[in-house]
Amino acid sequence: MGPFEKHVFVCTTGSTCPVEGNSVDVHARLKELVKKAGLKTNIRINNSGCMDQCGNGPMIVVYPENVWYCHVRVEDADVIFEEHLVGGRPVERLIYRPLKPGANKIAKEEPQTSGSSTGQS
Ligand code: FES
Repeated sequence: MGPFEKHVFVCTTGSTCPVEGNSVDVHARLKELVKKAGLKTNIRINNSGCMDQCGNGPMIVVYPENVWYCHVRVEDADVIFEEHLVGGRPVERLIYRPLKPGANKIAKEEPQTSGSSTGQS
């Protein structure tokens, strides 16, 4: 058994999830809820990079259940926390059901740019 009962990853550093919704605030809200409930030793909330499901975001995955959530809004964080992380019942209406195993990108990650994106002077 690992050091945490549940480990939650929120895609905050991929390039589409943070703009499809507000995954940074979803992550912050989950961390706040865990802290307020005194569950930091039981539940770990982590930032994550791209999960290869771009276009379905914001994406969240909860382990050890391997339950994935898609199109998660900030207000959904409270429901996921109460019903799944505390209550042990995954939130059916938010569960992600991919069409096939592995990568399921329906939106491409944007390449990271620095400075001029045209490369022309
Ligand atoms: S950017 Fe979140 S799954 Fe790709």
